[in-house]
Amino acid sequence: MSRDFDKDYWEQHWHGGPGSPADPMTDAAPSSAANPYVQHETAGLAPGTALDAGCGAGAEAVWLAEHGWTVTGADISASALAQAADRAGAASVTENVTWIEADLTTWEPAEPFDLVTTNYAHPTIPQLDFYRRISRWVAPGGTLLIVGHLHGSTTTANGHHPPEETTVTAGAITAVLDAAHWRVETAEEPDRTVDARGHGSVHLRDVVVRATRLA
Ligand SMILES: C[S@@+](CC[C@H](N)C(=O)[O-])C[C@H]1O[C@@H](n2cnc3c(N)ncnc32)[C@H](O)[C@@H]1O
Repeated sequence: MSRDFDKDYWEQHWHGGPGSPADPMTDAAPSSAANPYVQHETAGLAPGTALDAGCGAGAEAVWLAEHGWTVTGADISASALAQAADRAGAASVTENVTWIEADLTTWEPAEPFDLVTTNYAHPTIPQLDFYRRISRWVAPGGTLLIVGHLHGSTTTANGHHPPEETTVTAGAITAVLDAAHWRVETAEEPDRTVDARGHGSVHLRDVVVRATRLA
């Protein structure tokens, strides 16, 4: 399956609320709570500035703000960002999060971040090109944290498969990171089971890569 994950697609997706309309990719990434990889992989980091690239409804961005980070949540969908802002308000972290409506395939930050994370974001450009692009926004000594769908994943919500072009492997991501400039801290392909919004338990196969940009 191939489709154009452009602004119209994502706006339509988020317009009706999280998980609407039913979609095999986005249903596979529940946005009601921060994913466990962000929680686990940032646990040992000193909070600083953070970018959540393709933040959706803001679960991870708000969680980071609640844990001391000064967060920028960026997404191409205004509807997603409206939901994210509501979430930040409910969590009383509004002052610690800035929401930016932007197409991250062309947008450039004014300054690098101590942490750049992206979770299940898949824009119009090839997945590895997107990761290469956002890796340039990590400050020296900072962290890149990528969570994606594993290549060859067999099941997401509704029993659908992630479109192949949006999937990656841990090895493919680490190959993008020049060893002269990056130290890979985590490169894993974990499984987990989630409650996928009325579709019952769903088995997800993910990719998690965390790397430190060498000074
Ligand atoms: C599958 S959702 C994941 C949302 C959230 N990170 C999560 O884990 O629940 C992918 C997100 O990437 C955003 N996105 C896709 N292409 C983008 C682009 N070119 N620039 C910015 N955001 C984009 C979508 O709007 C959507 O919110």
